[in-house]
Amino acid sequence: MKMGPKGPEPDSSRQLSGHPENLKLSPPPKADGTWIWFGSATNTAYAGPWGISYAINLTPDKETGLGNWREEDFVQAIKTGKHAGVGRPIMPPMPWPAMSRLSEDDLRAMFRYLQTLPPIRNRAPDYQPPTGE
Ligand code: HEM
Repeated sequence: MKMGPKGPEPDSSRQLSGHPENLKLSPPPKADGTWIWFGSATNTAYAGPWGISYAINLTPDKETGLGNWREEDFVQAIKTGKHAGVGRPIMPPMPWPAMSRLSEDDLRAMFRYLQTLPPIRNRAPDYQPPTGE
């Protein structure tokens, strides 16, 4: 976010770079059985029964974004719901089950578009599994 004339507003120069690495969040509200999931004010961090997930950096930065991903890694991640197509399950609310139904051509086009963005250095925090509290 950055300060605008009406208060904090999304900083479009950092668009799609994921949850800001140096933004510290307070603990999420407690679920009560009727409200079970929550999103941060930045719309980049989400708490729910799955733990806490953070939107990743989709810009082509080589260390903190998708700069070292192959097109195939991206397509497989979205199709299988596994990190880079092979790793741990991708957590909600990332809508991969819906996106997995897109055509492979569309997924490839998305990846190619993302690779044209200016690379932004930002390491989104790691996913945190539920603490059992
Ligand atoms: C066209 C739209 C989108 C694209 C291209 C996209 C792409 C991605 C990719 C490539 C990942 C990393 C997967 C991996 O680790 O292999 C990811 C993770 C994630 N996305 Fe999305 N995403 C989209 C929409 C959304 C939306 C709408 C939300 C939330 C409302 C979201 C929330 C997340 C979160 C929280 C993660 C991290 C999940 C985890 O750590 O397990 N994404 N996204």
